[in-house]
Parts: sequence; C-alpha cells; structure tokens
Amino acid sequence: VRSQLRSQEHGETARRVLPGGVASGLRRALRPHPIAFVSGKGGRLTDVDGNDYVDHVLAWGPMLLGHSHPEVVDAVVEQVRSLQLPGGAHVLEAEVAKQVLGIHTWADRVLWSNTGTEAVQVAIRLARAHTGRPRIVKFAAAYHGWHDSVLISYRNLGDQASALPESAGQVDHVLDNAIVLPFGDLAAAEIALSAHRDEIAAVLVEASLTNSGLIPPPPGFLAGIRALCDEFGIVLILDEVITGFRLSLGGAVEYYGVEPDIAVYAKAIASGFSLSAVVGTAELLDQVVAGVVHAGTYNGSPVALAAASATLDALARDGVHASLEESSANLAESLRESMRRRGVAGAVRMVPGIVQVLPGGTSAGSAAEFVALPWRRWDLWSDTMSAEGVHVLPNGRLFVSTAHTADDLAHTIAAFDQALAREA
Ligand SMILES: Cc1ncc(COP(=O)(O)O)c(C=O)c1O
Repeated sequence: VRSQLRSQEHGETARRVLPGGVASGLRRALRPHPIAFVSGKGGRLTDVDGNDYVDHVLAWGPMLLGHSHPEVVDAVVEQVRSLQLPGGAHVLEAEVAKQVLGIHTWADRVLWSNTGTEAVQVAIRLARAHTGRPRIVKFAAAYHGWHDSVLISYRNLGDQASALPESAGQVDHVLDNAIVLPFGDLAAAEIALSAHRDEIAAVLVEASLTNSGLIPPPPGFLAGIRALCDEFGIVLILDEVITGFRLSLGGAVEYYGVEPDIAVYAKAIASGFSLSAVVGTAELLDQVVAGVVHAGTYNGSPVALAAASATLDALARDGVHASLEESSANLAESLRESMRRRGVAGAVRMVPGIVQVLPGGTSAGSAAEFVALPWRRWDLWSDTMSAEGVHVLPNGRLFVSTAHTADDLAHTIAAFDQALAREA
C-alpha cells in the first residue's frame, strides 16, 4: 500500500456531513481509519488512493461470493432495466421464496424484509402473537441488530445474566421484556425457562456467537434448547443472519443439526443487496394474514430478489461449501502456525467462511473472556495488515469468500506474519 492519504482526506470532509464520517456506527471502529473504496472484484477491494486490498470485511458478511460476482451483477442489471418496485405482487417474490424453501426444507413459508434487524423484529412479533407471552430470551454477547428490544447485553455484559442496555436513548421497558442468559450454559437455560415458562414467547439464539469470538455451541446445547422450547411451548428463533448460506447451504440448521421454528436470514442471501427473510412454519408465519402486521415499502424488492436468486444458484453448486471450508481451515491453520512460530500467545477458530483470531493466552470460551482479550494488540496487527493491503474487521474476525484465491489468502497470511514480526 502506497499511501492512504486520500482516504484520510475523505474521512475529514465526510465527518462534516456524516456524524463519524461513515453511514453505519460500527464502521467507525475499522483500523486505522475507515478506508474509502471505489471498486471491488472477487476477494479484493480498491481504495480512492488506488491501493488494492484482500478483503476480509466483505461488507461485514454479505459478500460471500466476493465483490461483483458476474452472475449476480447480470441478474441485477437485467432486473433494474425491467422493474424496480411495483408495490404489488410480482413473480420473483414467490419464485425466490420457493428457492429458499427448497434449501430449508424444514420450513413452509417465507416473509421478505430488508435487513436482519427488521426480520428479527418480525420473528419476535410472530412469537409473541403465537404464545400470548411478552418476554424473549437472548444470550449475553449475541448481536441481533440495533433495535431497542434486542440491543441488550451485547458488549455491556455485567454478570452475563442481567439485561443491560447498549445505547443511550434506549427505553427501559425493553430490559424487563428480555431475559439474558450465558451462551452455552444449558443448566442455566433450563432453570430460567422453567421458572418463566408462562412469560417467555421466544428464545432468540445464534448457533455460534459469530460477533463475539465465534464461540461454538457446546455439544448438546442447541438440542437442549430445542427440547426446552418444546417442553414449555416457547418459539425457537434461530438468527442465521451471519451463519445462513455460509456454514453450509442450509446454514446453521444443517451445520449443527438444529431445527428452529423460525430462522432469520440476511447478509449472504443477496450478495450486498438489502434483503432479509423470515423463514418458518406455516402456523407461525401465516399469522400475518390473521392479525400480525408485517409491512414495508421495500419488502421483496425485485432487484434484491434477482440478486438473491443468482446468489443462491451460485451457492448451491457442488463443492462450493466444501471448498470454502477447506480454504477457511487452511487460512486458520496458517495464522495459528504464524503465531506459534513467532511465539505469540493466542488461538484461532474457524467455521466455513469465518476465521476468528483470539489474541492473548486464552481461547476465550465465554463472552466475558472474549471481551477481556487484549484487543489493542489486534488493533496494531490490523494497522500493519491494512498497510500491507489486507482489510480486516475489528475484534479478530476475518470473513472468507468463495472468491478468495490461493494468492489472496497467501497475501493475508504474509501480512499477518508481518504484523506479528513488527510487534516483536
Ligand atoms: C447475527 C446478526 N443478527 C442480526 C444482525 C442485524 O442485521 P442488519 O445489520 O442487516 O440489520 C446482524 C448484523 O450484523 C448480525 O450479525
């Protein structure tokens, strides 16, 4: 990387019109500062200074097929030319729903929304209407979007068993309607679900904490939660916003073998176009024609659905997920090897499409351990990686796309090694 001067200048002028200089708050945390990009192709991005980066941010998840995937671009361009938004029925909304249900054979219906945040809210409303109960269970350090009702105990963890707000301006009553539990602790879940069985509408769970250290579900945890939900008549909502279509074509449902009542998909479903899906049983989702309101001007946008259709076709091809798993595992092992060789304490986890570096001596089995890791070191490593032409997320996470080549990943590994060498 030659210089990031124009990106810096862009940031200065952008901050005069955009608070923080970027359109989404979390992006302010990108190191060393948010780089301004002009184009992307495959596993790489180009910035305003003309630098090329191997991209492991991948838009924070959506670009699983890499940037400007030709089939997605063609489908979108063709759709844009013919119909942008009719505000009535159109053919693709049902066709792509069929495509999704062909993958998620456990489900009967799809509701289209625009973002993960929205889709989670619809899922919660459906669960509340179905059960007539108000409260939701979520797990400490799990992120389910920025809405008041779920932006609870994400980084503000306390003892991991009380509902704590994350944002100024959040109303207090949402905390009363939430029950926060430590992820992976089935015994704690059993006690809480049993004690509050008459109040709990839904358990909202991400199969693995992909935003907080990629903490995996302990054996039996997801099956245990499923059984408790069945016992107490609680709706199990699986947040597949990140895991969906990535861990396998069938997402976490297939990868971990857990069957929810409702699953929520977004991000990778449409390669960067705004689309989310609430997928679930007819009994739950058909409530939208019997009193539950689900609305949205842009729901089922033909352009986003055209992107989704092409994306799902590409992801459904033989060997796509096997090869993603192999490249993610190889990347994880090379980063581990680099840490071993340089005597740097830490751990690396992976699932297909996500590699998680955990700096420090612990493997961060709990959310509290994850939050307490020496993240300042990752920040410094990220600065070096950025200067070496690798774009990474805060908190040690690297998304891997199906478009990353062996050369791209070799570049990432060399940049990481360089970062460790520079620290020593
Ligand atoms: C697991 C999870 N759920 C929900 C969301 C919210 O999705 P969106 O940003 O599309 O509103 C995110 C976003 O990062 C997420 O990672």
